[in-house]
Amino acid sequence: MKTGKVISVINQKGGVLKTTTVLHLGSALARMGKKVLLIDLDVSQANLTISTIGQLDEEGRGVLHAFFKDNSLNQVTYPTSQENLFIVPSEIKYKGMTIPLDVALSSQAGSDHILKKLLKPVMEEYDFILIDNGPTLGIATLNSLIASDYFMIPTLADYLSLVGVQKTMETIDQIRENLDHEIENLGLVLTMIDGRESIAKDSEKILNSAFGGKVFKSCIQRNSKFKELAQNQKTIFDVTKNSDKGNKNFRDLAEEVLERLGMNTQAKPISKTNKKTNSEVSIGGMQ
Ligand SMILES: Nc1ncnc2c1ncn2[C@@H]1O[C@H](COP(=O)(O)OP(=O)(O)OP(=O)(O)O)[C@@H](O)[C@H]1O
Ligand SMILES: [Mg+2]
Repeated sequence: MKTGKVISVINQKGGVLKTTTVLHLGSALARMGKKVLLIDLDVSQANLTISTIGQLDEEGRGVLHAFFKDNSLNQVTYPTSQENLFIVPSEIKYKGMTIPLDVALSSQAGSDHILKKLLKPVMEEYDFILIDNGPTLGIATLNSLIASDYFMIPTLADYLSLVGVQKTMETIDQIRENLDHEIENLGLVLTMIDGRESIAKDSEKILNSAFGGKVFKSCIQRNSKFKELAQNQKTIFDVTKNSDKGNKNFRDLAEEVLERLGMNTQAKPISKTNKKTNSEVSIGGMQ
């Protein structure tokens, strides 16, 4: 039996490396021997699918088929080129139509618990299930959060991005209160960092004081090598050595995730006792 930890990667801001983080954190964990399932819940872009197994053809079945037809993930779970790494892809079109998942779900009763039900029979087959979300907080993301034990927020280090983080946190607080669902903040990842820029240090301080020291020490530096990966369905691990900074950034992040979850030797599990709600804190004081 595996640990079956479900992690939503979310941020309502676009282009903050949600998809890149899901793929590379998943890939790093799979390389460490963990069995990992990635779920592409960003149906309108399907970037995770395109970056791993390529765009599904018209007949290809993905997450929409599972949500609306089969009620099971078995038929829509595909192996990737990497051992231990699997994906539930997203269809670009479903039944010949392009439909946002949020719109399709909006007419269904109980539509925010579908993913949780789909995961229940398979979660113990995996150590980690990482869910990629689009840059909106609609019913699709609600499904992701309700199905998850943890959430993780990649963010740029500028002021507007920090405001975006706070809004995302407020939404999560509402979910916790309204649905009585326990979901823990696994951590915030600073992304697209240029060298040792002081703004990143300021952001780290602000986020750490606002969200209980939850900023990962490992950040993802700006690196043009990532831009060429998707078209070749590669990860940074396929095209660089361990000493490369992009490669190291994500391996360090994976180590830190295992540490926070108490899954490696010197690990301490993350605290479950931080009672301060996210909406009680404020992002301010940034110059
Ligand atoms: N370390 C990096 N440095 C610079 N660019 C990067 C890096 N990692 C990824 N990118 C590129 O940045 C762009 C945005 O990344 P990504 O798609 O992961 O963001 P996202 O948060 O998932 O976006 P969206 O909100 O649209 O889903 C992509 O073109 C990606 O190739
Ligand atoms: Mg994305």
